[in-house]
Amino acid sequence: MSFTRRQVLAGLAGLGVVGVGAAAGARYWLGKPLFADTHDYELIAAPLDVELVPGHLTPAWGYGGQAPGLELRSRQGDWLRVRFINHLPEPSTIHWHGIRVPLEMDGVPYVSQLPVLPGEYFDYRFRTEDAGTFWYHPHTTSAEQLGRGLVGPLIVEEAGGSAFLHERTLSLKSWHVDEQGAFTDFSVPREAAREGTRGRLTTLNGARLPVLELPAGQVVRLRVLNLDNTVTYRLNLPEADVRIYALDANPIAPRPLGKEYWLGPGMRIDLALRVPEAGRELSLRNGPLRLATVRSVPSGLAAGDWPAPLPRNPIAEPDLESAETLSFNFEWAGALSSTAEGSAFKFWQINGQAWDINDKTCADRPIASLRKGRSYIFELRNMAQYQHPIHLHGMSFKVLGSNRRKIVPYFTDTFLLGKNETARVALVADNPGVWMFHCHVIDHMETGLMAAIEVV
Ligand code: C2O
Ligand code: CU
Ligand code: CU
Repeated sequence: MSFTRRQVLAGLAGLGVVGVGAAAGARYWLGKPLFADTHDYELIAAPLDVELVPGHLTPAWGYGGQAPGLELRSRQGDWLRVRFINHLPEPSTIHWHGIRVPLEMDGVPYVSQLPVLPGEYFDYRFRTEDAGTFWYHPHTTSAEQLGRGLVGPLIVEEAGGSAFLHERTLSLKSWHVDEQGAFTDFSVPREAAREGTRGRLTTLNGARLPVLELPAGQVVRLRVLNLDNTVTYRLNLPEADVRIYALDANPIAPRPLGKEYWLGPGMRIDLALRVPEAGRELSLRNGPLRLATVRSVPSGLAAGDWPAPLPRNPIAEPDLESAETLSFNFEWAGALSSTAEGSAFKFWQINGQAWDINDKTCADRPIASLRKGRSYIFELRNMAQYQHPIHLHGMSFKVLGSNRRKIVPYFTDTFLLGKNETARVALVADNPGVWMFHCHVIDHMETGLMAAIEVV
């Protein structure tokens, strides 16, 4: 595959972008009105100091002047056009997690595009065919770039409009910072070989233990995103009347949240919360730990009812009768771990192969080749003690079942494969290209747990 370097940025002034500084305002970050004929958003990635620890600044990196990044929105069936401008000190790309895009828009360096160098820009344009809660992030030096804050929500509204009158986006991320707000290691080999390196400081929408004021008596859609490198949040909302409406952007028949839901890195869940009477507080938690306080405030609105289930997305239904079954074993590869100069640690492997993030040619050796239009069943086998949120680019898949728990089949882009679990998922290989297939614990992905699957 060959690339031509995209438009080199000749100077922001020429684009009508005002410079950095106090007067810059929203337009600097958000080009919507200014560039309406070429793009909807102008998304700048740049260093950004944030106050995560009171009284201390953390040298984060943000999208659109925020970390987590600016919320992007599109409507199902519409084109989304994002001009990504790189003001970071290093190359980057944007990957649109869960969006079924053509390969050239997938944001994987050397597979779908060249990295966007500092000072350059790249225009992403694609149709958002599926509605739901998605997100975006780089696919370059991921532990550090995502770790510093380059993660953001992408909301695709239902073509027919939302069934909900109220909604909130809740982005979860923990930060690798010390008590002074300085970054600590994003990846520690000893941790990468286990569950992954955890950040110390948990935030929701970039804030510690925020209070969310919600209208009493109303049903509010909570779009919860796990944008973290490592942590699986065990989400719960004790004493709340709350139902699950969608998993990883795809609608399910609404059901109660239950005791807790394990939201692995990269995963999303759309909840409907019936807000209690004014003055009451609920606590959104990760296991026993509070993430945020929900405070009910008077709304003056008549009590809301549960909205109808969300309409399903146009994802092809796999034909299980004719499907070929492929097995993928996710294993510990400790014996292969290497500290040799220039080569990455390899703690993990898929079917005996460990991805090397420093080797640009790995994607030339896909571990599976699928025929376009055919259905496949993937048997995902976790041979290890640590769980892996398994993610596929380019196509969504249907989770059929597991040897460890009862599953009501549903479509997704990321499946949390528990320790020693074997699960079966199925898809129609309807998007030609070379697609990354990896664990979304960034430490695992960068130490071997990634592969390419081609559709020809
Ligand atoms: Cu969020 Cu390669 O993915
Ligand atoms: Cu992805
Ligand atoms: Cu993993």
